[in-house]
Amino acid sequence: MLQLTPKLDEGAKEALYLQLYRYIQGEMIAGRIPADARLPSIRRLAETLGVSRTPVALAYDQLLAEGYVISKPRSGLYAAELETGNRAQTLEQTYATPSPPRAYHASHTESVPYDFGYGSIDVHHFPWTKWRRLVNQCLLPENNRMLLYGDWQGEAELRAHIAQYLHQTRGVRCTPDQIVIGAGTYHSLDLLFQLMKKDVSTLALEAAVNDGVKSLVQQYPFACHPLGLENDGISIQDVVNSAADAVYVTPSHQFPFGMTLSIGKRMKLLKWAAERRAYIIENDYDGEFRYGTRPIPSLQSLDESGRVIYLGTFSRALGPAFRLSYLVLPPSLLDRFWKKQHSYDQLSSPILQKALLLFMQSGDFERHMRKMRTLYHRKHDVLLEALTKHFPKSAKVIGAGSGLHVLLQPGNGMDEVELVQAAEQVGVKVYPTSVYALSPEWSMPATVLLGFGGLAEEEIRAGIGLLAKTFGRE
Ligand SMILES: Cc1ncc(COP(=O)(O)O)c(C=O)c1O
Repeated sequence: MLQLTPKLDEGAKEALYLQLYRYIQGEMIAGRIPADARLPSIRRLAETLGVSRTPVALAYDQLLAEGYVISKPRSGLYAAELETGNRAQTLEQTYATPSPPRAYHASHTESVPYDFGYGSIDVHHFPWTKWRRLVNQCLLPENNRMLLYGDWQGEAELRAHIAQYLHQTRGVRCTPDQIVIGAGTYHSLDLLFQLMKKDVSTLALEAAVNDGVKSLVQQYPFACHPLGLENDGISIQDVVNSAADAVYVTPSHQFPFGMTLSIGKRMKLLKWAAERRAYIIENDYDGEFRYGTRPIPSLQSLDESGRVIYLGTFSRALGPAFRLSYLVLPPSLLDRFWKKQHSYDQLSSPILQKALLLFMQSGDFERHMRKMRTLYHRKHDVLLEALTKHFPKSAKVIGAGSGLHVLLQPGNGMDEVELVQAAEQVGVKVYPTSVYALSPEWSMPATVLLGFGGLAEEEIRAGIGLLAKTFGRE
């Protein structure tokens, strides 16, 4: 039913019926009342607006007389179709909406046959039936606590399971009390910046970072210092030169370029942080997926001085729609977090937290992870095989071995924009990487990002075959 919410002023010189008439007329011209929309009955609108029926009836009569509405016998009044062009044009004028920015993730609104977007997961192997059952279980009346606010730090039992899981898979050492559940990486990171901002004037970051991280950092008064990226991760010399109070890193699989921070560099970074009493923010966004080699221990697991803040997400393991992430805070920041209790809201739903807890308690989460690791491992190998088969040796593939994406440098003389456009013309979406650079001067050979999580093996093969042709490499 159409909702009409005019601001009527009983004290105004203009009669109420005229105010209402003008409001409805304006809404129709602006396109906010579409053609064929049924107007509320006189009685209902009078009740809603708290006025007598007379002004409503008079306003409707006027609209009818002028052709703005038409009457359908035994049905009511309906908005008429206005003059052609009138509506669309006015809509645009009213809402001069800018175009949305280009997405660097795989988009669920655009449809391209082969979308190598980063951020997609394999939705076909999601345990739909189990999750339907678990969510149903959470919504039984005996679980009515689920309808309340929940624990502001995140459900305690879920935190205990996450602590166990992180210990087993990433070597993280923490108690459940150190974990703060968040509604996605940026929400968690935002909270962390709030907690540490009084200690941090310079923040050192990898020279290329995820776009969300980049824009979040810009909202804080940190002086940002880019860290060079080498084959074995960030330049430690740059860290030392930065004189930073905190360092942001993705050590397991640098985003976007995919290198792994070597163990030697990990130890040096930890030593530097301990001596300087600086923080290390470790974003382990896809550390649970490593193929062929043993998982590299997280920085947090090697930290003896409480300088590392570990950050993770369930976006890869379950799906980004869950909006579930976590921070593992060292004791110094934990104390601050507890003091801030009243200025922090838990944004992730207790219902989904509880469902995840049940999923973990049943052992299904572990089984799901084993299955997904095998599945993504296969897709990763298929992608590498296809790249090797279709591209010459001069093309470079970087960042393989973990996570859900790799990088391709075709080395064919095309720049990044040309690569993305050429791919799009043959129905393949690949993604630019220069958008992740912290400063415009930083440059890399033309590199595109290929996410493989959301594509089937045959789609990966077909997509890479098309890419090779359009990049002139076959
Ligand atoms: C570096 C990095 N961290 C985290 C995420 C995931 O964030 P979220 O937890 O908001 O899904 C992404 C997704 O693009 C990412 O690139």
